[in-house]
Amino acid sequence: MCGIVGYVGEKQAYDILIKGLKRLEYRGYDSSGIAISGDEKDLKFYKRKGKVAKLEEFIGDRSTKGTIGIGHTRWATHGPANDENAHPHASGDGNLVLIHNGIIENYASLKKELEKRGHKFLSDTDTEVLIHLIEEVKKQENVSLFEAVRLSLTEVVGAYAIVVMDKNNPDELVLAKKSSPLVIGIGDNDFYVGSDATPIIEYTKNVVYLEDEEIAIISKKNGLKIKKLNNQDISPTIQELQMKLDVLEKGGYPHFMLKEIFEQPKTILDCMRGRVNAQKGFVSLGGIEDYATKILNANRIIIIACGTSWHAGLVGEYLIEDLARINVEVEYASEFRYRNPIINENDIVLAISQSGETADTLAAIKLAKSKGATILGICNVVGSTISRETHAGAYTHAGPEIGVASTKAFTAQVTVLSLLALSLAQKKGTIEKSKLNRLLFELESIPEKVAEVLKSDDLCKEIAAIYKDVNNALYLGRGYSFPVALEGALKLKEISYIHAEGYPAAEMKHGPIALIDEEMPVFVVATKGPSYEKVVSNIQEVKARKGKVISIVTKGDEDVKKAADHVIEIPHTEEQFAPILATIPFQLLSYHMAVMRECNVDQPRNLAKSVTVE
Ligand code: F6R
Repeated sequence: MCGIVGYVGEKQAYDILIKGLKRLEYRGYDSSGIAISGDEKDLKFYKRKGKVAKLEEFIGDRSTKGTIGIGHTRWATHGPANDENAHPHASGDGNLVLIHNGIIENYASLKKELEKRGHKFLSDTDTEVLIHLIEEVKKQENVSLFEAVRLSLTEVVGAYAIVVMDKNNPDELVLAKKSSPLVIGIGDNDFYVGSDATPIIEYTKNVVYLEDEEIAIISKKNGLKIKKLNNQDISPTIQELQMKLDVLEKGGYPHFMLKEIFEQPKTILDCMRGRVNAQKGFVSLGGIEDYATKILNANRIIIIACGTSWHAGLVGEYLIEDLARINVEVEYASEFRYRNPIINENDIVLAISQSGETADTLAAIKLAKSKGATILGICNVVGSTISRETHAGAYTHAGPEIGVASTKAFTAQVTVLSLLALSLAQKKGTIEKSKLNRLLFELESIPEKVAEVLKSDDLCKEIAAIYKDVNNALYLGRGYSFPVALEGALKLKEISYIHAEGYPAAEMKHGPIALIDEEMPVFVVATKGPSYEKVVSNIQEVKARKGKVISIVTKGDEDVKKAADHVIEIPHTEEQFAPILATIPFQLLSYHMAVMRECNVDQPRNLAKSVTVE
């Protein structure tokens, strides 16, 4: 979603802002803009529809001098993507400028009120209303910018991360947040601002994460001050970022997505580090250990998540029910919170989120918390809002995922869920020692097997070339492979814009079979396992209707090879871990099809990496 960057200090702000905006490009956006000021108090203010490169091109030789500034990448909510709706937005007198991530829900009534007082608006956005409100309050109450922002926000309903700048006071930025993330980087003699740490990491590792309903002022002269919206002083907690700069670069790969697909042997290993030792029969998730008894005695575990993380949650349901025999439900966060769910203190809610910022997941957590449930989290981004909102949790340790389409985060989430299921099963005694040992040894071998699956990249590319021009695709899987089919379809549609559906293989005959003809590629997971024969029959059914079958099979398989048009082999593994291996050829196929269709795989249209609006 929208990206925010800011700077106050002695350096020239322009390069820091542009570089920061480029680092935030992965979040997905449709326009960008910056505002810069300095001792001359002349506000430079540029914004443009399109990529940051378009903004740079537009700025060209125009002046960018100044040591204080803000920058923004917009993901349209109110009003189309155009120059007028791009941020920053200015007050009526042009002295104040603001950037915003989130949605001001009562903007229409505020706008009506301000229009009555003579305010004129140039854009369709809710953000412009907010800066006019701040201007009005500042004038009426004759207060500082900080106080005007604080008072204005008490009238606002909605979500926001904002940064405000006053051209007549080029010493300070005022920031505030509610339900959208905002990070302040503390440099030697300066401050950096970001909607996440990626634009900051290059300059400092010391950061302060603003909490909801906090408002901060960062000033060259007076440093950092934070208050609650109710005026209570807050002492900032400085945290050290663990992220390294090189992980934000492509490292020789043409796209972040491909880099992240190929990182999976390492990310899965990192995810298991210290958590499993097959030799010693040890499996544990340190962060959740204190809650183990509570989980084992819970009514049920409710997994809440969105998108790819929801697919990982489905695998989690299969794993936990199968191995630990605990009742699990998997819910879309957005549906869960609006359907008046029955939930109480005997329930465990397990939120899964790569970014740790997804607004729907966060809102579902808050609802479950208010009903007394214990909230656990599986997040990738360290220090993210969801990781801070949960009672306990486990990080996936996959490192920053920049490609909008989730790849390494999914396999890391499934790895954490495997560890959780095995550790619960061990504690509950629902797994025989010999089976536990077998599964632990197998889990330890998964990174190596993932590396072997990645060798199918050239084959995936060849298959992609054959099917790149199709309009539709069907993905089928059964048991543990059903979520893989859903994830395969999501990967293809989101980056190549080919319509794709994932189905449980046996459901095909209840409807989707009508779609099958010689034009329709059907991607089937047919690895060896309890439903193998049944899936082979499904493949026969597709072939009988002249559909094209591309199947993922266990190495050495002969039966599917005879029936399918193409097979991609993966090493043998226990059925519980097959989703980790089987998902990788689907990632590669989608990637190559999208590249061949000349799609922007790292930043697909309309999508955002961190979905901070509901
Ligand atoms: C798909 C994808 C999205 C996310 C979803 C949830 O490739 O990335 O479907 O999985 O937006 O995001 P997180 O996991 O950050 O909560």
